[in-house]
Amino acid sequence: MFSAQMMADGHREGVRSFLASLATEGSPLRRFWFDLLDRPQSSEGPFLIATKDDRLIGVALVIPRPVGPRYGRMVFYVSRPDEENVAYDVLLPAVDRLLRDCGIADQYISLPAETVGDDSVVSRGFVLDTRLAGFTIPTAATPRPSIPGIEVSDYDGTDRDLNAQVADLCNHALRGDGVWSPLGGVGLQEIITLPETAWLVAVDEQTGQALGAAEIVPVQSLYNLIAVKRSHWGTGLADYLVFLGLERLRAEGSDLAFTLVRPNNAASIRLHRRFGATRRQDTLIFRRPVASSA
Ligand SMILES: CC(C)(COP(=O)(O)OP(=O)(O)OC[C@H]1O[C@@H](n2cnc3c(N)ncnc32)[C@H](O)[C@@H]1OP(=O)(O)O)[C@@H](O)C(=O)NCCC(=O)NCCS
Repeated sequence: MFSAQMMADGHREGVRSFLASLATEGSPLRRFWFDLLDRPQSSEGPFLIATKDDRLIGVALVIPRPVGPRYGRMVFYVSRPDEENVAYDVLLPAVDRLLRDCGIADQYISLPAETVGDDSVVSRGFVLDTRLAGFTIPTAATPRPSIPGIEVSDYDGTDRDLNAQVADLCNHALRGDGVWSPLGGVGLQEIITLPETAWLVAVDEQTGQALGAAEIVPVQSLYNLIAVKRSHWGTGLADYLVFLGLERLRAEGSDLAFTLVRPNNAASIRLHRRFGATRRQDTLIFRRPVASSA
């Protein structure tokens, strides 16, 4: 009666109409899911589907980018509201199996703070990991100037030495953040080379030293990360990186960028406010160890 399986090509149309019935035309939720479904080269996924008597009741999507200290993966769930609990119960063991087979220790989910309370996730073993403030930022920003002596360019993750520097910069800048894994250069290279992400790296033209980095995920309209070396705070480099990132998102069709910031990160919030960021609802990130047997 209930089953969970990997989405195959033959399920795609069914999944499309399922999602269309749940998310209104033009909504960010719909764009997020449809963009992913419609990209044949996407590395996002896999998608898993839950059915009840051959009727779709839920979909789960595993995001390949590592989050958290144990290389956990973020999983997005969407379900028919009247079958939400059943859909979780059908999908969770299947997701656990998949993650366990890949040696991944934790799964994460993010939920809008206001929807949490019915404890459907807490009763299933998820614990609150991080609270983040959500912001939207118009992507049509006033241009910011480049910084003399610093070259900012798209980065494809193929330079091992630069990877190590960027990993070090990000780990150092975001240490204690909890939502950024302490990655080595190789782990970072894995993330940078995912087709969904775009990286900008700022390099000192004379020394070749990495001074800043930003990650954008156009398919999610997401400005995911910005880090600037301590020595270059207050120089305008952060502004330039934010501007270039927003421009990229705009070129890829997003009018509004979305970003998540720790509520106590005053510098980051002020930086984003200068670009017209509006605070939206908080996002709660929950973590659950992958069950040892499903
Ligand atoms: C966030 C970051 C990129 C900002 O770069 P920056 O060069 O420091 O940015 P700015 O100097 O323009 O500072 C931004 C604003 O915060 C203010 N600010 C700086 N440090 C601050 C602090 N500790 N407390 C309060 N405000 C602070 C600045 O005065 C400025 O305010 P203004 O807009 O009124 O002028 C940089 O601080 C950084 O890399 N931090 C670590 C990584 C990080 O937290 N990334 C964001 C994760 S979402």
